[in-house]
Amino acid sequence: MASRVHRKRRPLLPSGSLFLLAAAVWYLGHSFWPHRTPARLDAYTQLSLHGRVTKHGPVVGLAQLSALFTGIDNPDPNMASALYYPGDWRQQRLAGKRPPPPGRLCAIMWNDALKVIFVKNVKAAGSTLVTYFKDCAVMGPNDGPFEWRCLRTLNFGNATQVEHLMRVWDDYFVFSFGRNVLVRSLSQFRYLAHFMQPSCTPAWDDYCRDPYVLGDICEVHAQNGSSCCDPLATSVHQYLHAMPQAPCMVTEAGQPAVDFIGRVESFTEDFAELLKQLNARPGAVHLPPPGEEMATININNKCQQGSSSSKGKGRKDKGGGGRAGKARGRRPLHELPASDPCNQMEFYSNEHAHCYQHILSFYDEDVRLLML
Ligand SMILES: *[C@@H]1O[C@H](CO)[C@@H](O)[C@H](O)[C@H]1NC(C)=O
Ligand SMILES: *[C@@H]1O[C@H](CO)[C@@H](O)[C@H](O)[C@H]1NC(C)=O
Repeated sequence: MASRVHRKRRPLLPSGSLFLLAAAVWYLGHSFWPHRTPARLDAYTQLSLHGRVTKHGPVVGLAQLSALFTGIDNPDPNMASALYYPGDWRQQRLAGKRPPPPGRLCAIMWNDALKVIFVKNVKAAGSTLVTYFKDCAVMGPNDGPFEWRCLRTLNFGNATQVEHLMRVWDDYFVFSFGRNVLVRSLSQFRYLAHFMQPSCTPAWDDYCRDPYVLGDICEVHAQNGSSCCDPLATSVHQYLHAMPQAPCMVTEAGQPAVDFIGRVESFTEDFAELLKQLNARPGAVHLPPPGEEMATININNKCQQGSSSSKGKGRKDKGGGGRAGKARGRRPLHELPASDPCNQMEFYSNEHAHCYQHILSFYDEDVRLLML
């Protein structure tokens, strides 16, 4: 209850008569659905929680690791794997059960000189941010001059690092980026499907019922010695990249664990705001505005109400939800022509209509934290 702090409420429906008309048609067409959520969400819905938030403590996954290591003089690094889609959890999945994963681990990166911690959500501008800060472990040939701002990645099995981050969590500036759940799910599926043979990849219509299904498929095939999934795409990789965003932003008690949440949909603006906030701290090492490296980065959800960002990019889908969807049959989403990023809702309407409720249910904690 107390977790809703400092959220900026925005009108859920931007003005614009075309949009309202479309929304009305959509609403009437689907009004038989139980109204689980007070508002209809769509691909344009901006995150309701963003900007400065009040941090309540360490992010849940870090606290879990710390608890695992507490009181043990010589922790075994492999203990961390008990939290990381462990074998018995995967067996339960394959047996048709759907237990929540025991661990809530997310990638955590930090820089002690800058006193920053970045909790990295998958498919939410993570690589773009690392392009700016740099990754201390994989510095490119031209990255030398930026080494001072590179981020180190937490090794989940390293108790020293875990305890260090627990100690500095309150003091350091902790940030994360979030993304519209409906759009992110499409991005997750497209990304994860690239690691699998098309013959093994379910259609979007099936994926959306339970996004962990790709992990299950890779697990079954790994156990069977067959090659459905790229060697990089272990089942753990496929589970991890389907996970919700909230675990990377909240404490064990479900309260915000970060100081700042940026929006992928407003990346340029929010990244500038992040730098401003970081630089405003007393004694902070000054972070310059991004250079050319960021200008070329494709943040692929540029869609704004009233503008189409698909100009000149690949084939354009002019069909409008239903017709386009039907013509495509049940081919997996990743084989479909590049979709108009301003028309992502086609994957939640007509024959894909069930995906709306399934995705919002699967990512319910994200919806409640970020989108209501
Ligand atoms: C754990 O992290 C500390 C601090 O970064 C480092 O000095 C140490 O070598 C690491 N231990 C292992 C086993 O990687
Ligand atoms: C492994 O492969 C065999 C033969 O193709 C199949 O019958 C079996 O169901 C597979 N095992 C699992 C766990 O899917």
